Amino acid sequence: MGELRIESFGEREVWTIDGEARRNALTRALVAELAQNVARVSSGRAVRAVVLTGAGEKAFCAGADLKERATMSPDEVRAFLEQLRGTFRAFEKSDCVFVAFVNGLAFGGGTELALSCDLRVIAPSAELGLTEVKLGIIPGGGGTQRLPRLIGRGAAKDLILTGRRVKADEALRLGLGERIGSLGDAKALTAEICENAPIAVGAAKHAIDEGLHLDLDAALALEQKHYAVTIGTEDRLEGLKAFAEKRKPVYRGR
Ligand code: COA
Repeated sequence: MGELRIESFGEREVWTIDGEARRNALTRALVAELAQNVARVSSGRAVRAVVLTGAGEKAFCAGADLKERATMSPDEVRAFLEQLRGTFRAFEKSDCVFVAFVNGLAFGGGTELALSCDLRVIAPSAELGLTEVKLGIIPGGGGTQRLPRLIGRGAAKDLILTGRRVKADEALRLGLGERIGSLGDAKALTAEICENAPIAVGAAKHAIDEGLHLDLDAALALEQKHYAVTIGTEDRLEGLKAFAEKRKPVYRGR
């Protein structure tokens, strides 16, 4: 333990990668700690949203720890990538909402970490890039698959085949980030999401993520399946009651 600094704000948390001296690069220990914490928040309902960011002002995450990588055998590299892919996938499978606050540089695995989150708030000084081809490799944490799904095939090839870095305004224009802002803005975004009914938020997240890869008929059937989960909930009735009584709903996640 000790790679992630975790602060709790009721049903929300802020996770800060605590490796400023190595620009918050992804070590094996950090990936293991991320995996443990995603499993922790996904196994219960106590934590509903997480802001993930990096320590210091320079970097969100400078990708794989290249010094550690230089000491690893090819088999160890393969095992690391498997661990990385599984951990990033767990962000998407969770009912919890993950918001990356990209506070600075995010290269390689750093950008892939942000891509695995549900939303991205980008600091004005940040730069992102899938720079792997410059190192003789390709993105190995899902970048070649998640980036085109997020910003389209052509724009993804523009970034991945050149390995170039984009600043915050271009990232926003490409759809690689949803907002430019501060840590406070990222936390406010999670607060806004957490005002809504927990089961509905989880169902909407999964309907969007799972439906993207289906044809429209299958996708609409999937939406119906996720909608059905909300129909029997107390929260749905509370939403209707609060509307009739002209007050804010109080959701309990049931
Ligand atoms: N892995 C391990 N250590 C890293 C690192 C990485 N990915 N990125 C930076 N560091 C370390 C540097 O080695 C340096 O350590 P040192 O003080 O012991 O020499 C320290 O972090 C600061 O890096 P430095 O390059 O001096 O800082 P900078 O602010 O001028 O530049 C970067 C930061 C991120 C632009 C630059 O370090 C870089 O290009 N890193 C590689 C990023 C990359 O290619 N990632 C993709 C991996 S697939």
